[in-house]
Amino acid sequence: MTNAVPSAAIEIRDLTKDFSLNLRGIKLRAVENLTLTVPEGQVFGLLGPNGSGKSTTIKIILGLLDPTAGECKVFGVPSRRVDSRLNVGYLPEAPYFYRYLSGMELVKFYARICGVTGKRLDARVAEVIDWVGLSGAAKRRVGTYSKGMLQRIGLAQALVHDPRLIILDEPTAGVDPVGAAEISELILKLKTQGKTVLITSHLLAQIEDICDRVAILDRGRLILEGNVTELVGQRDRQALIVDPLPLEQLEELKEWLATRGHTLNAVEQPRARLDQLFLSKVSRSPKGGKE
Ligand SMILES: Nc1ncnc2c1ncn2[C@@H]1O[C@H](COP(=O)(O)OP(=O)(O)OP(=O)(O)O)[C@@H](O)[C@H]1O
Ligand SMILES: [Mg+2]
Repeated sequence: MTNAVPSAAIEIRDLTKDFSLNLRGIKLRAVENLTLTVPEGQVFGLLGPNGSGKSTTIKIILGLLDPTAGECKVFGVPSRRVDSRLNVGYLPEAPYFYRYLSGMELVKFYARICGVTGKRLDARVAEVIDWVGLSGAAKRRVGTYSKGMLQRIGLAQALVHDPRLIILDEPTAGVDPVGAAEISELILKLKTQGKTVLITSHLLAQIEDICDRVAILDRGRLILEGNVTELVGQRDRQALIVDPLPLEQLEELKEWLATRGHTLNAVEQPRARLDQLFLSKVSRSPKGGKE
């Protein structure tokens, strides 16, 4: 009998996670009855305030924590099974990397753990370091890297075994807007390669730009889930952007609209987003990474 091809990268069903806080049995419910599907080939944003259960959910997906109730599958394989992780790359929140290794040694270390060996090893490590833009700094100790460089070397270690699903827990924490934009570009490139990306971030503008779907958690509960365009789009409204109109022409336009039963709801000057202004003014990182 052949196995059916799973259409979901991650399937979470009725997931609950309680942490015991002390020996008297006091418990904290970090995730409550969560049901969620991450479709294959999409960028999926897991959002929520601090302490809402995002990292706990990720650790259960990765099999690093056992759920109290419910189940989780990765490409159809239950998370408790070791082989569910073969196709997964993971960048933890606040990763700790051994500071005396060079970037290249660090990625090699993770490559070996993930089963990349032999002749393929050196070529794959160099390829993935180049891909995250750190070739020029690959021989430097990780302890000398900036936060943005650390996140990019972390991304390289998550990608070195060419996984189908990449889980990034706050990959832009502490990274400046240029570095965050570069990480966004890399995530979108992963999507064009057919990868699935699950990302958590508190940078909601970044999430809106790169995610196909989002789920919002609050105190461990799912409060909203859906396609980003559908969630934030205002279908009952349209914005027309025109060159500045003299006052009398604006009045004429209002009258013209009124005679056709429409109302001009707002006249305002469109604003560039501050992040776009920032990115247009400051320099991009050189290939070796910013200091
Ligand atoms: N090992 C643990 N033991 C006890 N409580 C824990 C443990 N790990 C997480 N928690 C608690 O579970 C809740 C959810 O934490 P979690 O780290 O999943 O939140 P988060 O959404 O990732 O937050 P942040 O945005 O700050 O990263 C929090 O109240 C947290 O204190
Ligand atoms: Mg977290």
